[in-house]
Amino acid sequence: MSKKISKICCIGAGYVGGPTMAVIAQKCPDIEVTVVDINAQRIAAWNDKDVNKIPVYEPGLSEVVAEARGKNLFFSTEVDKAIDEAEMIFISVNTPTKTYGKGKGMAADLKYIELCARQIARVAKNDKIVVEKSTLPVRTAEALKSILHNTGNGVNFDILSNPEFLAEGTAIQDLYKPDRVLIGGDSPEAIQALVDVYACWVPNENILTTNVWSSELSKLTANAFLAQRVSSINALSELCEKTGADVNEVARAIGTDSRIGPKFLKASVGFGGSCFQKDILNLVYIAKTYGLTEVADYWEQVILMNDHQKRRFADNIVSTLYNTVSGKKIAFLGWAFKKDTNDTRESAAIYVADHLLNEQAEIVVYDPKVPEEQIYADLDYLNTRSEKENRNLVTVVNDPYEAVNEAHAVAVLTEWDEFKAYDWQKIYREMLKPSFVFDGRALLDKEQLKGIGFEMYTIGVGE
Ligand code: NAD
Ligand code: UGA
Repeated sequence: MSKKISKICCIGAGYVGGPTMAVIAQKCPDIEVTVVDINAQRIAAWNDKDVNKIPVYEPGLSEVVAEARGKNLFFSTEVDKAIDEAEMIFISVNTPTKTYGKGKGMAADLKYIELCARQIARVAKNDKIVVEKSTLPVRTAEALKSILHNTGNGVNFDILSNPEFLAEGTAIQDLYKPDRVLIGGDSPEAIQALVDVYACWVPNENILTTNVWSSELSKLTANAFLAQRVSSINALSELCEKTGADVNEVARAIGTDSRIGPKFLKASVGFGGSCFQKDILNLVYIAKTYGLTEVADYWEQVILMNDHQKRRFADNIVSTLYNTVSGKKIAFLGWAFKKDTNDTRESAAIYVADHLLNEQAEIVVYDPKVPEEQIYADLDYLNTRSEKENRNLVTVVNDPYEAVNEAHAVAVLTEWDEFKAYDWQKIYREMLKPSFVFDGRALLDKEQLKGIGFEMYTIGVGE
């Protein structure tokens, strides 16, 4: 008989911990869920009376939080207390690429994970199930086990791997109806306890159980395959532009083959987000540590292609604008790494902007959900130029029409739906002539905009 879980703690109140736990709380009213974080500001935002001010923007999330918060969903900075009281502890902290030491720029930095394990070991006074929710290198459970069992108070820890597959912007739908929930472990009772949690709303056939290493490795593999599809279609987008083909037509043509499938074939200015790059780099690093050079090189190419895609989009803006953008105003529509999120981590927009700023362009950014300070923080983080220079060259506005006013060019970096509905006649009137549009998402109606008078470039669409 598996243990029935009544109290869950989740360490890490980020883009995964917050939405995932909110949905567990909503769907399992008998389980009390406490999400803890060391970032007091973030916890305060999760607890904000105005539910629209929670720190993660996701369609539908504020409604779920409004329903469960204060009933069986709590956000707190009291990490020890939540660990002590819970029977099941999810670790959902960040696992960024290492920026120092061995594996710098490739390996996953596991210091936050290890801190959690040591804290759990110190605090736990009774048996716990510890669930890896963060994305981790294969065999991390081994290290966790060693820490938990060697520094603990003699209590038993079962470790499960339960990677998260939600995508930002569709997190709530993905959590409500996951293609699968993956649970890896070696204790049948612990596995069953977690299966029972998900079984509150996920059909049994969608809950897969595996050994712990397969589960850990499947998460990295899933992201590698997804990113590879984007890099594959983006590679073809360049060839389409040279040959007069249209990458959207090519994608539709190949996507109807059921073995290929229609999803994840949208050419773009490059994939972003906190995970694709870091997880592939991690996979490459793991392959290298096992001496698997060809495996490492194969997957690294997905990243190199993505870097190329961002770079060539920026280069094309410079060459089209008569080989100089110095002092020219370029309006950026979108800064988030995809639509329907306020997340900007690794967004292509950051790198395109950085490249254009090196060419002394003046950039005016409008994004419906990303605040000004985030945009400056993203640029400052690159350390390419001083904070002052970033603020001199980049302006952030709250009105898209202000962004385009007297601009030499508009660049579409994120596929926000609202961009399609703009009054493009008015935009044309307000821009300098010739008025260029560089559509990095193939979002806008190219022929219609050409009809208005725009000089159009659409990613992946040749003439
Ligand atoms: P995030 O940076 O948004 O959130 C992580 C949170 O953990 C932060 O708020 C941080 O303050 C907190 N934290 C770090 N160390 C802590 C500690 N010792 N004690 C308490 N809190 C601590 O990260 P995220 O986007 O939620 O990603 C978390 C993990 O999930 C990563 O491993 C990521 O690869 C994985 N993942 C992310 C997504 C996604 O869409 N963002 C999807 C699937 C999986
Ligand atoms: C991705 C995966 O889709 C999730 O399954 C996974 O859980 C998550 O990473 C993670 O581990 O963090 P996410 O990064 O939130 O989710 O968003 P995606 O929809 O995958 O988009 C990633 C990037 O690829 C975006 O910049 C998006 O614009 C780009 N993309 C995606 C394309 O350019 N073309 C496509 O066809 C699809």
